[in-house]
Parts: sequence; structure tokens; C-alpha cells
Amino acid sequence: MNPYQQKRRWKYSLLAFAVVIASGSLLYTSYLVKNIAKSERTRAQVWAMSMRQMLSSDDNDFLNYVLAVRDSSVVPALVVDSKGEFQLTRGLDTTKTFIKLDEAELKEKHQKYDPEYFKQELEYMKSQHEPIQLTVLKEPWFVYYKDSPLLTQLKIFPYIQLTVIAIFLMVAYTAFSSSRKSEQNQVWVGLAKETAHQLGTPISSLMAWIELIKDKFDAENDPLMAEMENDVKRLEIVADRFSKIGSVPKLETQPVYDVVKDFVDYFKVRVSDKISFELTGNQALFAGLNVPLFDWVLENLLKNAVNAIDGTGSIKVNISGNRAKKQVFIDVSDTGKGIPRSKFETVFQPGYTTRKRGWGLGLSLTKRMINNYHNGQIFVRDSEVGKGTTFRIVLKSLNDDSTPAT
Ligand SMILES: Nc1ncnc2c1ncn2[C@@H]1O[C@H](COP(=O)(O)OP(=O)(O)OP(=O)(O)O)[C@@H](O)[C@H]1O
Ligand SMILES: [Mg+2]
Repeated sequence: MNPYQQKRRWKYSLLAFAVVIASGSLLYTSYLVKNIAKSERTRAQVWAMSMRQMLSSDDNDFLNYVLAVRDSSVVPALVVDSKGEFQLTRGLDTTKTFIKLDEAELKEKHQKYDPEYFKQELEYMKSQHEPIQLTVLKEPWFVYYKDSPLLTQLKIFPYIQLTVIAIFLMVAYTAFSSSRKSEQNQVWVGLAKETAHQLGTPISSLMAWIELIKDKFDAENDPLMAEMENDVKRLEIVADRFSKIGSVPKLETQPVYDVVKDFVDYFKVRVSDKISFELTGNQALFAGLNVPLFDWVLENLLKNAVNAIDGTGSIKVNISGNRAKKQVFIDVSDTGKGIPRSKFETVFQPGYTTRKRGWGLGLSLTKRMINNYHNGQIFVRDSEVGKGTTFRIVLKSLNDDSTPAT
């Protein structure tokens, strides 16, 4: 069995285990709740019967004893006579049963029950359980009761338990998937480094061939040779990028406009001349850039823009800034097919492509290079289907306050 299958099996076993724990404990708690509810009714009944007993005797100690029992397992109860008057209570919140007396009232009596509180409690008890009826002094009295604090706690217990299990599952799942991701990353890093290594030899040979051709055909100043050299240098840069995957690239303070200009100049002669390029904006902004990686970002964005333009169109890059927020903006706009609003986020997902020969990797890599290596952001600033798109890169500006911001 391969490690992925093994992990999947683990994941399912974990899930099954959690389901078994959850349902087992739910069943057991509901069984407990039922039993305790039954015994609470019996206890309310026993209490009511002892009340009746007590009311027909004069034993004050017994009365005190019954009223004193106030532990958490006491079933809170209210006794109401046939006229609806409250006769006895127990297990209610003693801090709420009395209301404050003013001075005049204090002279007359000690304490006064809060009728509102009793009414509320009675309504609640009515909604919870059928009353127990007793005959006291030949009159029918009713004992209303509600679940004890213990039972109430037990009733919410399954929800707490389910939450804990859900959290446990989430943590376990995240741990598994992140370990799998890091494994996959290692495979990619290895592959990239190996590719870079293998590209090294033919690239150096190409360099040597170019020198030989220059000599042999006396083509030192031929512009074609210069372009060829440029391309081989690009190949070298690409191989270099691959070899650097997995290591943390260094950022250097760079003039953003100049870096973008260099790349746009290199790029524009390599695409159809039906597409025009324009670079505008602030030339005095600085940001921390890793030039090879940033060129890669520009390459992906410009290539996408070219792909989005069917035939004739224009691509504009504008550099601007926000001095207050210390930000540099690089906006890449095209007059291409546009992106529907619902896909503004999706385009950055690896594998998402609308091109026949696309891999759907360009923008996901770009986002990674901007977010992780340049501590910036990239997003679709605006786009309209059929009209065009603007991607915006936001980087931290390294200018001081004296630079014009826009
Ligand atoms: N400027 C743009 N205008 C319109 N759609 C775009 C633009 N940029 C990207 N998209 C859409 O986003 C998708 C994903 O782009 P991404 O660069 O990630 O992959 P791709 O270009 O399809 O393939 P590749 O891996 O070769 O770059 C594209 O297929 C396209 O549908
Ligand atoms: Mg692309």
C-alpha cells in the first residue's frame, strides 16, 4: 500500500472512531438523562408527600430541614394551592426570591417574595413537566417542578462533547493534510532542483556555440546575435529560479519602475507587434524586490495579458503609491477577454485554466512569490468580460516621506 492510501485509511479510521465515540456517548447521555428525569419526578413526588405529612404535623424542625436542603441535585419545585396561591418552594435561586423592602415595609415585615419571579418560574415549570397533585387539608394542591441544575448540565453535555469532538477532528485533519502537503512540496522542490541542474550543461554549451558563431561568421555586432544571447541569458535565469525553489530568496531595495521597465523592454519585442505596451507612473518608488522572482511575476502577468488579448490590443503597466500607507502599487492592465467577477479568486488556484495548453500554474505561483517572498499582495483589481482586466500588486514602499507618492 502506498503512503497516500495508508494515510487515507488512517483518516477514515479516525473519522469512524470519532463517530463511534460521539454516538456512543450521545446514546449513553440520553439514557442517563431519561433515568435521572424519571428519578427527579419520583423525588419531587416524595418531597411533596413529606410536605403533606409535615403540614399536618407541628414539627418545625422537620420544616426547617426540608427547606434547608439546597444542593445541586435538589429538584426545584413550587407548590400552588387550589386558588393559585404559592404555598411552598424549594431549590429556587434564593438571591432572586425576595425583593428589596423600603423602610416603611421593613418595619412591618422581614422579607417579601418577588411575585414576578415566582410567576416566571411557574410558567417555566409548567412548560417542562406535568404537575403532581396532592390533597392537603382536603384541598387539591399542585407541585410544579423543573429539572435540577445537575440534569440541565447533563442535557447540554452532549453538545459540549460534540463540539470537542469536532475540534479534535479538525485539528487531526489539518495536521494530516499539512504533513501531506509538505511531503508533496519536498517532491516538487527536488524535481525543480534536479531540472535546474540538468539544464545547466546545455545552457553553457549554447553560450559557447554563440561565441563560436560570432567568430566564425564575423557576426559580433549582428543584432540577431544579441537577441540570441538575451534568450540564452533568460534560459539561465529560468534555470536559476528553479534551483532556488525551496530556499528563501533575498530581497534588495530596488527602483520599482526601472525593474519593471527592464522586463517590459525585454518582453515586448518577443510578442506580436499588434499588441502595444505602455509603462507609466512614478519613477521614484523603491521596494524590496528579488529581481529574478519579480521578473517571473511580471512574465506570468504579461503572458496572461497577451493570452487574454485575441489579436490586437494594448497592455499598460502603471506604478503608483500611497504615501500614508507606505505602499507601492503595480497595476497590469490589458484590453483582453476579461474575467467574470465570480472567478476573481479562483484564477489564483493551482490548476485553474481556461486555456487549452495552459497548466493553470502561472497565477498560483505568482501569488506565492508575491505573498510569501515579497510580503505583498496580488489581486484582480477590476475586470469586465469582453473589455479587459487589471491585476494589482501591492508592495511595501521603502521610500521616505519626501518622495512624491503618486
Ligand atoms: N489578464 C487576464 N485576462 C483574462 N483572464 C485571465 C487573465 N489572467 C489570467 N486569466 C485567467 O486565469 C486563468 C489562470 O491563469 P494562470 O496564469 O494561473 O494559468 P494559465 O495561464 O491558464 O496557464 P499557465 O500555467 O501556463 O500560466 C487563465 O487560464 C485565464 O482564464
Ligand atoms: Mg498564465
